[in-house]
Amino acid sequence: MSSGPDARSPWWRGVVGYSLYLRSFADGNGDGVGDLRGLIEHLDHLEALGIELVWVSPFYPSPLADTGYDVADHCQVDPAYGDLGVFDELLSAAHDRGIAVVIDLVANHTSIEHPWFRAARSDRDDPHRNRYIWRDPAADGGPPNNWVSYFGGSAWTLDETTGQYYLHLFLSEQPDLNWREPAVSSAFDDILRFWLDRGVDGFRIDVAQGMVKDEHLRANPQLAEVQLDADRLVEWASFEHRHDIFQPESLEVFARWKQICDGYDALLLGEVSVADPQQFGAAIPGGGIDIGMWLETMHVDWSASSLRAVLEGPLGSVSDPERIGWQASSLDERRAATRFGGSEDGKQRALSLATMLTFLPGVLFLYQGEELGLEQAVVEPEQRIDPVGHDTASSRDGCRSPMPWNDGPNFGFTTSSSTWLPFAVTGVDDTADAQRSTRGSWFDSYRSLFGAWKAHRSGLPDRVEWLDFADTGLLGFRRGAVVVVINAAAGPLDTGLSGSLIYDTCDPAFCEVHAAPSFDRTLTLQGGRAMVILSPSAEPTSGGGR
Ligand code: BGC
Repeated sequence: MSSGPDARSPWWRGVVGYSLYLRSFADGNGDGVGDLRGLIEHLDHLEALGIELVWVSPFYPSPLADTGYDVADHCQVDPAYGDLGVFDELLSAAHDRGIAVVIDLVANHTSIEHPWFRAARSDRDDPHRNRYIWRDPAADGGPPNNWVSYFGGSAWTLDETTGQYYLHLFLSEQPDLNWREPAVSSAFDDILRFWLDRGVDGFRIDVAQGMVKDEHLRANPQLAEVQLDADRLVEWASFEHRHDIFQPESLEVFARWKQICDGYDALLLGEVSVADPQQFGAAIPGGGIDIGMWLETMHVDWSASSLRAVLEGPLGSVSDPERIGWQASSLDERRAATRFGGSEDGKQRALSLATMLTFLPGVLFLYQGEELGLEQAVVEPEQRIDPVGHDTASSRDGCRSPMPWNDGPNFGFTTSSSTWLPFAVTGVDDTADAQRSTRGSWFDSYRSLFGAWKAHRSGLPDRVEWLDFADTGLLGFRRGAVVVVINAAAGPLDTGLSGSLIYDTCDPAFCEVHAAPSFDRTLTLQGGRAMVILSPSAEPTSGGGR
């Protein structure tokens, strides 16, 4: 994909992105699990929505300890998802529809079943040993340092056979690679080239912030006492992660990958899981990761001040704001519609946030199912798959439910009598088929939003000027002549703005009928809604909010 529809440069600037959870997208072989064939058969859905770039979750052979983020072979397709031939078909079918394909690159760790790790743990002298991080037990026989796993508990597991501990920032089935070992770097160069030669348009780097570790594996400063049964995130937050993540040498890895990707005009997308905007900016200085995914928009509550803080942070800290990847929902977090209150109000607020993220500099990655207004699925304890999360609220299963396609058995997701996870929906109105043909459906609203964006994105300045709405509950910014406003309050508010409406989350028809300019009156926005207008004047005429 060398150039986008408006010949933007590079091609990924301002595109409409989609994060696709393969296991739950569409099942093409009737085993109850989504796969590459199912994805190929439903590419028309993405095209109809206006998607230009899709990031596909891992499809590699894996024992599924962490649903595929434990890779046993980086250059193969797991038979459950297809094979390399089907993958090639996917690339050409997606490219025919103008959709770029980015694949997940899981390089912080492998599966314990990866041949490198099997060899490494067989003998201390095995040539693969140094591809992982091994240390002798501490004097008391315990772990070598105080690092904790992001998934809870110590980040070290004792390997009985060789009498040393190995490091894992996630599950013990996901041993961390040693990025200070040249054999690891050169093996990954080959992995990148393997997929680039097949035609992928880039990589989403999993756990980009964590890859290189402190050379001396120094203990992290402890900030708080950790209770025995503490929640994993509380435990993680009880340490300052000075030595386990964010080592500057990770940037050298990304620079090396960027050079490889540049030869193919491919995109490097990085998962940068930090709450501090300065750290975020430092991870994407240029010459490495092209787009850094900012995840804090998935931890924000519904208020104008919180939203503004979480959006302003990265915009102020990165050298080029077009290099921010935005998400309101993802494969790891509670869906925005649920977080923002659920039901119609929650769905409306999620659409409003997506509206703002679409029109900000950077790239929005809509998470599969947001276009249908999907909420978190209820997953009973006996149905749970995710090894992480002790309860319904913290388990990631609820955001990974299968897509409801039509009113057939199992909503057309599979011809199997069962699915790997339960659905989040109960009615036919929630399905893609119903929504694609219904005016004013969620699908229609998102499709119109992306249509409005594409019609106006060309030539917009990168600079965002926030509008002064004091503490009315309104939040808005201007980019050139385009003004985007959210009403985060419950009731209607006069924005004090006038102009020509190009998108309104209440009425998706607006962007198609080009509502008449309203320069003689100010526009009122309903609670929870967003609008986009073309307006020549800089500030709300009346201060807004009344
Ligand atoms: C992925 C998770 C995964 C973790 C470990 C994350 O960033 O999005 O789903 O569990 O990396 O690979």
